[in-house]
Amino acid sequence: MSRRETLILAIESSCDETGVALVVGGRRIVAQAVASQVALHAPAGGIMPELAARAHVRWIVPALAEVLGTAGVTIPEVDGIAVTAGPGLAGSLLVGISFAKALAWAHERPLVGVNHLEGHLYAAWLLDPDEPERPAPPFPLVALVVSGGHTFLIEMRDHLAYRLLGETVDDAAGEAFDKAGRLLGLGYPGGPAIAAAAADARRRDAVLPRAWLRDTYDFSFSGLKTALRRQVEGELAEAGQPGGEAGGRLDPSRVSELAWGFQEAVVDVLAAKTLRAVDETAARAVVLGGGVASNEALRARIAAGATARGLPFFVPRPGLCTDNGAMIGAAGWHRFMAGERAGSELGARPAWPLVRPAGAPDTRRPPRRGAAARTYAAALAAERDAARDATGDAGGSPARRGAR
Ligand code: KG4
Ligand code: ZN
Repeated sequence: MSRRETLILAIESSCDETGVALVVGGRRIVAQAVASQVALHAPAGGIMPELAARAHVRWIVPALAEVLGTAGVTIPEVDGIAVTAGPGLAGSLLVGISFAKALAWAHERPLVGVNHLEGHLYAAWLLDPDEPERPAPPFPLVALVVSGGHTFLIEMRDHLAYRLLGETVDDAAGEAFDKAGRLLGLGYPGGPAIAAAAADARRRDAVLPRAWLRDTYDFSFSGLKTALRRQVEGELAEAGQPGGEAGGRLDPSRVSELAWGFQEAVVDVLAAKTLRAVDETAARAVVLGGGVASNEALRARIAAGATARGLPFFVPRPGLCTDNGAMIGAAGWHRFMAGERAGSELGARPAWPLVRPAGAPDTRRPPRRGAAARTYAAALAAERDAARDATGDAGGSPARRGAR
């Protein structure tokens, strides 16, 4: 690790994973640990907020100790501490925030609050400890973020600058997967369970409705969920069985076929709208992030669309799509370099949006003037140089961006 680059200690505890990571230069993971609570919440079939917060308290210190031990780094050696401040579960967020504040205060390190969704986005920039260097996504780009609580499509013309193209008007994509998983009796979390069941489907012809919401980039998944429920109940009634969330009593091969039909409907709409946005904004790259981005069918569909357009596609490996500390280190580096700092007033923001609707002022734009802006510009220029060295690309839009 080069000590010329800024080293961020990052903490994530917004939902049901306790993540701690050391990330250098906004991209390179030095070490990370994720303590998953999946087994804790599985019996209830969903996240129990009180249990989640207590599990964060239990695991946050061991996770930090593991990361520092693996990296051979002490807290006084880090340049800043980044912590997820929202959106998420208030009690869970508060564990990470209180912990980060205590570390920052005790070790006199600067603190920065990070938006969890910005973390999911910046996960596409991350490099694993041993991964070869590769270029960062070029701008302008289109990014789809699909998690358990959020689903939205944005255009990015520069770092930290977002234009909202569309978002879900009801359920998030991950939420839809989780509900469908319950309906089919597949357990929690539904996303990976549906994907696994779908992969086993022998007949691939189950058609469930798509809500296209034409002429918008918005998404809707609640009608699909209702259609799946009707289908399951109808088939159970035909077989003379009671309905309800009892799809487990459908034949496993039929469950697989319906799982495939459900996944296909979600992937179809997500991929089609993302690729239309790519065309209409003349994007130079496609980025995918959030827990649902670990879905193989979704990755393959968007990858194929990007390849057909000759565009690079950036998606984290599945373990970095779901919640983790490293993504907060990547986004936190940008906020840190842009001069943002949080103090003891930093609080949990359970409903903090990443992007405000069109026209609303963005209060978190990084500074465009002064010493912080110059430092940030220099850091981004170094990133561009590194990317150019790695690819031999001498021009392109990053340089134009600098001249703007
Ligand atoms: O981003 P994330 O870890 O947490 C939130 O910020 O919400 O996303 C969790 C969501 C869950 O709804 C889960 O079912 C979904 O991501 N998910 C998947 C897959 N793996 C996780 N959905 C579809 N296919 C997958 N392979
Ligand atoms: Zn998340």
